[in-house]
Amino acid sequence: MRLVLASGNPDKVREIKEILRDIEVLPLSSFVDEFEIEESGLTFRENAYIKVQKAFELTGLPSLADDTGLVVHGLHGMPGVFSSRFAGENAGYEANRRKLLEALRGMPLSARRAYFICVVAFMEKPGEVRFFEGKVEGFITKEPRGDGGFGYDPIFLYPPLGRTFAELSLREKNRVSHRYRALSRFREYLNESGLSR
Ligand code: IMP
Repeated sequence: MRLVLASGNPDKVREIKEILRDIEVLPLSSFVDEFEIEESGLTFRENAYIKVQKAFELTGLPSLADDTGLVVHGLHGMPGVFSSRFAGENAGYEANRRKLLEALRGMPLSARRAYFICVVAFMEKPGEVRFFEGKVEGFITKEPRGDGGFGYDPIFLYPPLGRTFAELSLREKNRVSHRYRALSRFREYLNESGLSR
């Protein structure tokens, strides 16, 4: 099976390709030179929908999109859908992490409880979109740890392993992550519906 992936983020593309190893995943950038998708939705679902719809419209092929965010208990759910632009419209990973650590400074452990959520949208036919969700719970550390992963990984502690996501290898992260969990549900759907062949 071939799938178009509506993402220009190479970190995500790498993880998704590794998780869906037996599926041919083609980034949208290999079909169109430049594309800009405005993530104007108010929910992860809406954003995943906007992205998958765009990929399908441009290629006409079965398409997949991933919208992800970090939801922090003590910040009333922020950064949430604003995860990529928490410290400003063009903020990089490091600036976003710094802003988050700053916002949590002095707060108790309970405020540092957080989860990653990943919503995957799949569109195979016009107007037919299915969503798959994966979540993973953890805590925001006081300082970054580890140099693997990307985004908020260095400050996201995964309690069952006692390490941040950035301290895990790609393989290890891809066995437990929000993205792995959402994509496992997607895979189950493909198997059940016979689309994986
Ligand atoms: P989006 O789904 O492209 O809107 O991603 C939102 C932001 O969440 C990204 O810019 C990253 O900072 C962060 N992010 C997404 N996935 C992950 C992940 O697996 N680990 C850590 N941060 C992530």
